[in-house]
Order: sequence, then structure tokens, then C-alpha cells
Amino acid sequence: MGKEKLEKGKAPLFEALVQYKNGGQASFHVPGHKKGQAYASFGGAGFLEQAMEADVTEITGMDDLHYPEGVIRDAQQLAADCFGAEESFFLVGGSTSGNLAMILTACSHPGDVLLVQRNVHKSVLNGLMLAGARAVFLEPQVDGGSGLATAPSSETVAAALAAYPEAKGVLVTMPNYYGMGTDLAPLAEACHRHGVPLLVDEAHGAHYGQHPQLPRSALASGADVVVQSTHKMLAALTMGAMLHVQGPRINRGLLRQRLAMVQSSSPSYPVMGSLDLARRQLHVQGAAAFTAGLAAVESLKRGLRELPRFGLLQPAAQQQSGAAGPAAAAYATQDPFKVVIYDRTGVLSGYELQHRLEAWDCIPEMSDDRYVVLLYSLGSTDEDTRHLLKALSHISVEKAGAQPLHSSHAAPAPYASPQVDSPEDCGFVEFSTWNNFDQTTSFSEPVAFSLTPVEPDETEVIPLEECAGRVAAEMIIPYPPGIPILYPGERITEFVAVKLRGLARSGAKCQGARDSKLGTILVHKGVREPASGNQTP
Ligand SMILES: Cc1ncc(COP(=O)(O)O)c(C=O)c1O
Repeated sequence: MGKEKLEKGKAPLFEALVQYKNGGQASFHVPGHKKGQAYASFGGAGFLEQAMEADVTEITGMDDLHYPEGVIRDAQQLAADCFGAEESFFLVGGSTSGNLAMILTACSHPGDVLLVQRNVHKSVLNGLMLAGARAVFLEPQVDGGSGLATAPSSETVAAALAAYPEAKGVLVTMPNYYGMGTDLAPLAEACHRHGVPLLVDEAHGAHYGQHPQLPRSALASGADVVVQSTHKMLAALTMGAMLHVQGPRINRGLLRQRLAMVQSSSPSYPVMGSLDLARRQLHVQGAAAFTAGLAAVESLKRGLRELPRFGLLQPAAQQQSGAAGPAAAAYATQDPFKVVIYDRTGVLSGYELQHRLEAWDCIPEMSDDRYVVLLYSLGSTDEDTRHLLKALSHISVEKAGAQPLHSSHAAPAPYASPQVDSPEDCGFVEFSTWNNFDQTTSFSEPVAFSLTPVEPDETEVIPLEECAGRVAAEMIIPYPPGIPILYPGERITEFVAVKLRGLARSGAKCQGARDSKLGTILVHKGVREPASGNQTP
């Protein structure tokens, strides 16, 4: 592919779509809605009709995502330039498809070993299954103040690489759903010392490195493959994402083949066009693209200082200037666009606070037992903040009960880790970014993943109270954020059983589980490890 310098103010694919939309050509090709004409006499498509006018397929001039030679090639080349990659690939199936392709490339043979952070999105576990890989799970670091998990330490990565020199790479997630992160550079260095790639699920960090107030990007930290949901923190349409590559450690030909396997042969042009547009905005405006959004966050923070009931999650170093300490390693950076708040009085759980906010027409990104994640972006305005502060000030005087409010300068209560020996007493049962380690090891034995279904007659449904010591036959995924707390084939430790009971009590939304209320759970018959099979029947 020629590396001619392209004009960053251009959006080749998006502009081709505008031309198509406005052109008067008659369509004798898919899609069948024919620029929305199919609904002309029937109606009902409403605002979708506009989207349909730019919904095209691989006709002449529109290029082909899987063999790009024209506008898509140019748009991807501009994306690589903007995000600091050697090559970038558009994804129309979200970071999910990027994670699958990344794993299928790194683990090209069944049985290949991959070192994987335990608290990963379900798409990573699905990728391991598709690849028939063996995962050595790495214990993430846990921030003592919040109880939330980030990425494994470089020591854990180095120790696991020494124990499994045959590993094909290391996969971590950065930042987590709450915008918390650590320095990835030492992880990249550890990987490269062993000659293996660092693969990063940066689904929540597509904007990283694009403004001085934003943390460094995974690519700038030395990662070899990075997957970003452009639709999450930048301005692409939902499902629009990118996979970026640099360095010699990834077989690019194989990667192209894997991408073609996991993505449609009819990728959405509106989604791809929006990737081009989102990139152009960033490329042209640079850091200035974030000015208004960051100002909106700043006014929220100022407003929160007047509402002492609500605490704000932030790294220890930002709470007390100069305080680095050991906690700083686990939680060194915070995405300013993820504003994570909690009720300091403890009266409202994160879920309840979310419901109260929704009653005031403020819709948060997600909540857990303690926290509510409020997602800002380059599209946020001061008016959004005024709306939110009005809602919070109403909520702050509701339901405070007899509990005294803390002063605005009070430190947040330290996180109470669940006690395995008194499970019913645990105050906060945190699972959103949790891992299932019992904290006596920093990495697991290799766990074999496969697509072999679990036979129904090898499983049984049992009450949740009796699950400790059994082997799970279903995946349990609190959603959001979609990080499985349990996967099929995994032994259920007492530690995890406590979390599952907390999950059931809190009424969290769970995917994968047959009994969504988690009164019961599907396990393998007997207590032995199953021969194979991570797939729910
Ligand atoms: C850490 C992480 N990785 C990957 C994904 C999948 O991203 P997408 O929804 O773009 O497929 C998500 C989705 O929430 C996620 O949180």
C-alpha cells in the first residue's frame, strides 16, 4: 500500500457517501430499501429514512472493507495517522469484533497460551473459545480506596511470562469501565523483553492521548495491537470501532484474514462513514475538540463541591497532592470524561442513585452497588451539567434520613472488601470490575477454552447457596460492564459464591444466567473439572 500523504481535513469515505446520497443515480443493487424508497408510500421509517439515503454497499467507487484500494483505504490510512498507528482497520462490529480478531491472530493454533487479565469483557472470553486457546489468567491490581480492579502489574506479567515462555502474548484492558487506569509502558516493556506482543482492549479509551488532560494512549505506551470503541468515547455511530497495529510482532496478513472472518461481508457504510467523520473531527480540531466537554466536566466538579453528599472517585494522588504511595500503581490515571460519583452517606446505593437520576431525566452510563458512572464526551455541554446538578441537588436533600452528611472535605469511606467467612455481612459486594482470584496467586494455571458444547445431561440446576466447590456450566455476566464473574468450566470458589449471592441480593442485571434472579445456577454434575467445554449449551 502506498503511503502517500493524505489531507487530514478530508474524509474520503464520508464524502463519497454524501455524494452518493445527493447523487441522482438509480439503484439496482442492495440494500433492498433503495435509499429508503421502500418506505415512501408506507411510511414508518421516519428518521431512519435519512440514514438509509447514505446506506450503500460495495458499488463502484465505494471500495471494499476487506480489500481496500480506494476511499476506505485512504480513510483507514488517515485514521492510522491520527491515532499514531502504523495501520488501522475499521470495525463495524464494535470492539467485540476487534477483540475476536486480535485473539484469533495472536493464537493461531488450538492450545496456544495467552496471558489474559481476568476481569475482561466477555468478547475476550468468546475469542479464547473461538481460538481454542489456553488462558493463563492474570490477577489485576485492585485500588484499595474503591475496591475496583484495574490491570495486572508489570511484576505479575513478567512472572507469568517467565512461567509460560511459550505464551503468544499478553492481553489487558485499559482503561476500565470507570475510566481508571495504570501505566501500560512497563507491561509493554515486559512483553517485548520476551518477544511477545501486548494486546490492549482500549474500548473505553479511543480519545486517550488526544488532549494533555487525557491519559496516554495504549499505542503511545508501546502496545502492539489496540482495539478502540470509537462509538463510546468519540463520535462514531454505535458499533463503529477501530483496531490499530504497530511493530513487527503481529502477522498482518493473518490479522486481515481474521478480520474478514469475524466481520460481515456487507459492512455498514453509515457506520464506516461515521468512523471517517469522527477521525476527521479529531484530526482537524486536535485537543480543541475536547475543550467544551472538559469545561462541562469542570463545572460539574465545581457544582459537586457544593453538594457534600456526593463523593467523586479519583486517584489518591489527585485527592492529596503529592501522595503517590503504593495505591498509585493500581490507580494512577482517571479519564476526566468518566465522572464516577457515590452517595457519601451510604443511604443510596449506586443503583438507587441511578434510578433517582433517571427520575430527573438524567441517564447515567451505568451503576453498581456503590458508584454511578456519568459519561461525558466531546459532545457534552454546560447545559447537560446544569441539568445534572439540578437533579443532584434535589436528590441530595431526599432520603438522607437520620444519617449525618459528611463534610465536603471528608475522605470517602475506605472500601470494605467482602469477607469470605461472613458472607452475609458484606456491605459492598463489588463485582463490576472484579476478578475471581482468591488473592493467594497472581496468575492461574492454563485454562483450556473450546467451542465444544456442554452436554445438557452433564449439568444440573442447583440453589445458589450450594454452588461453592462446583464447576459452573453457564457464564454469569453483570451487564454493564459485561465482565463475566464466572465462565463455564470454572470452579466456583467460596470467594466467588459470596459475590454471586451479593449480586442476587442487589438485583443487578445479569446476562448468560438461565435464572436471571440468580436463585439457582447451572453447574456440572459432580464436583470434578469437566473434560472440556466453555460453551453454554
Ligand atoms: C472493556 C470492553 N471491551 C470491549 C467491549 C465491547 O465493545 P463494543 O460494544 O464496541 O463491541 C466493551 C463493551 O462495553 C467493553 O466494556
